[in-house]
Amino acid sequence: MKDYIFVLGRDPELSVAEIKSYLKSRRYDFTIKEENKKIVLAAINNLNEKIIDELGGTVKIAEVFNIKDININQDKIKYGFSIYGYKNFKEIDRKLKDYFKSQKTKVIIKKPKKENKFSPSEKGNFIDFVVYNNYIAKTILVSDPLQYIKRDSKPYFDRLKVTSIRLSKILINLSGIKEGGSLLDPFCGTGTILQEALLLGINCYGIEKDHKTYEGCKSNLTWLKKNYKTSKFEVFYGDARESSKFVREVDCVVTEPYLGPFLNVMPDEQKATRIKNELTRLYFDSLKELKKITRKKIVFISPIIPFRRGSTKPEMETILKKLNMKVDFVFNYQSPGNLIDREIYVLSP
Ligand SMILES: C[S@@+](CC[C@H](N)C(=O)[O-])C[C@H]1O[C@@H](n2cnc3c(N)ncnc32)[C@H](O)[C@@H]1O
Repeated sequence: MKDYIFVLGRDPELSVAEIKSYLKSRRYDFTIKEENKKIVLAAINNLNEKIIDELGGTVKIAEVFNIKDININQDKIKYGFSIYGYKNFKEIDRKLKDYFKSQKTKVIIKKPKKENKFSPSEKGNFIDFVVYNNYIAKTILVSDPLQYIKRDSKPYFDRLKVTSIRLSKILINLSGIKEGGSLLDPFCGTGTILQEALLLGINCYGIEKDHKTYEGCKSNLTWLKKNYKTSKFEVFYGDARESSKFVREVDCVVTEPYLGPFLNVMPDEQKATRIKNELTRLYFDSLKELKKITRKKIVFISPIIPFRRGSTKPEMETILKKLNMKVDFVFNYQSPGNLIDREIYVLSP
């Protein structure tokens, strides 16, 4: 087993849960040694490098090494540090310099643009050493923001009906599904969750109630199929509350459902309560139907609707109790610039 440091993205709690679920579903032999808001330190056997493209919440992965085993024989080296824990930094820095001095290697130190950490976009001909207290690690895998831009250039886009690529990947991985499995998004919108699942080799079904969006989703997935290697998909024009009419059985449901009307100003309490009641009915009817056809997990988002002096939310606890569904996890999720916060439920149906 080798030790790796996973550098986490914006939502560390979600990212940690995603890493654990991903490694478990792929049957990796692994032990989590430490986790905090910035990194996960894990011992893993035979890490596959595609992991960096498949995780949504990890920015980079670095392989831990011991300075006494370092073996770099170059005339010249350019390196810099991304520091996530300073406890032993001075000693690590000194030992590294001593090593290169003993090798007569010319050293050029590169500084990160900000906060003592290289961002994934700071690429180039240098080594990014990740330092976390007593550990030093060499960055071996970095997430590629250009891939996201390319995938976001699909034909149909609706900014009010889209889940981000990053969140879609996290949701899929939280369900524990992997290549060869089947997934349904019963509120599939423009198809981002389906798209990311298809790239993981998962067979997908989508249901969408709005005709224009349904057509848009189909053209997006057809575009994806032309440009990438994907698994099979089928999209239905219909209602999530009738899911079993379209799909007989799936391993997992992963969905960001309708979260209520778009709010650009804070609603009053009455309006927020109306939205809450409407969504409670929709979620009850949909989850009741989804329970019939899901073999493993349901990952489902529910909004927190703000009003001037407080907030309200669909009655998920009551719904899940009535339907006798077990909650494995609930995570809070906020996205910058969005009035509505969200709760992510991982459910056993
Ligand atoms: C938040 S969006 C989904 C976003 C999607 N994950 C994406 O990335 O495009 C929710 C979608 O649910 C659709 N919808 C609303 N009510 C529905 C229902 N009862 N059955 C199926 N789809 C519904 C909306 O038209 C909308 O496209």
